[in-house]
Amino acid sequence: MDDLLRWRAQFPILEKAVYLISHSLGAMPKGAAEGLREFGELWGTRGVRAWSEGWWESPRVSGDRIARILGAPPGSVAMQPNVSSAQAIVASSFDPGGPRRRFVLCAEDFPSVLYVWERQRRLGFEVVLVPARDGLSIPLEGILDAIDERTALVAVSQVFYKTAEVLDLARVVEKAHRAGALVLVDAYQGIGTVPLDVGALRLDFVVGGSVKWLCGGPGAAYLYVRPDRLPNVEPRITGWAAHARPFAFEGPPIDYAPDARRMLTGTPAVPALYAARAGHEMVAEIGVQRIREKSLRQTARLVALAEERGHRVVSPREPARRGGSVTIDLPHGDALVAALGAREILVDYRPGAGVRVSPHFYTKDEELDLFFEEVARILETKAWAPFAGRGAAH
Ligand SMILES: Cc1ncc(COP(=O)(O)O)c(C=O)c1O
Repeated sequence: MDDLLRWRAQFPILEKAVYLISHSLGAMPKGAAEGLREFGELWGTRGVRAWSEGWWESPRVSGDRIARILGAPPGSVAMQPNVSSAQAIVASSFDPGGPRRRFVLCAEDFPSVLYVWERQRRLGFEVVLVPARDGLSIPLEGILDAIDERTALVAVSQVFYKTAEVLDLARVVEKAHRAGALVLVDAYQGIGTVPLDVGALRLDFVVGGSVKWLCGGPGAAYLYVRPDRLPNVEPRITGWAAHARPFAFEGPPIDYAPDARRMLTGTPAVPALYAARAGHEMVAEIGVQRIREKSLRQTARLVALAEERGHRVVSPREPARRGGSVTIDLPHGDALVAALGAREILVDYRPGAGVRVSPHFYTKDEELDLFFEEVARILETKAWAPFAGRGAAH
């Protein structure tokens, strides 16, 4: 008996769809709509007083919920509109005139993040993009080799978005800290499905969002800063929400807040934080370790079912090196995904990688079988053909 299936009733879409796409957009819990209703109610009935009755504090309250999931102390997480801006804020806290001007990244990482870091070259930073030989695996040795006493920061992902490969973060941190460099981890593809203990790993910065495994929707990304690093982190991308006394309306220069609020900018994206609460609370209540145990069982089943049918599995085969998704090389990738979508089976396709399939805590085992049965039917009857050449929808 799968105890976690009792949460299914909280997710309306599961009544009519086989939802295997939480690496992209986690299913919406009913509580997200309730959170938005509460936000509207506060605005509608309390007007401007809403700021002091919950709105202004919402980034801190929401950040503390994320901190619990990350094993971090209260006050160490600042909410952000998205991961790209969170990384830009971190980048803006490094000094191009300082002795360390090198950023080390993986060239295969999520493109939006690479756009942010590559632009730092304009300020005089050196940006090392370590390529993977096959474009599909994390070049751990290459990343380690690129770290030296010139390195200011190593920015890597906990779980690689194309193949769900899990990076050995302990080795990166060990080398980086020994060389005097800091480490930023993009935990977007991990948080909510692969445990991450930021304190035990002594990570310096962690970013991620709520759209995927946290079932929190867009606009509720987060940025963790290791508490003992905070006093030395002074981002150039800033604003009044980062000030120690925002309502004193003091002139510049900014006196940064002592805690993670110093990483904020202007008025927070309040509705998004109300929407995200239900997903955050659910994941915290279940516990990421339990989600991981179920995920390991179901992703192993996906690997076995794929191989039984002669499909190549692109994700790592060793369970410990695999996150919450299984990427499978299936014929007619994007057209097949569109045909599956028309049958209410939701997965996606990434060019050069394959079809990404992701069970989450609300997934039934039989839905995994159903996915493969439907793939076989579509391929046999060429039902993918009408969708060919239309491009990916998401
Ligand atoms: C690992 C990773 N980082 C960053 C992003 C982009 O985040 P955002 O759109 O919040 O900037 C994604 C989105 O899919 C991702 O998978």
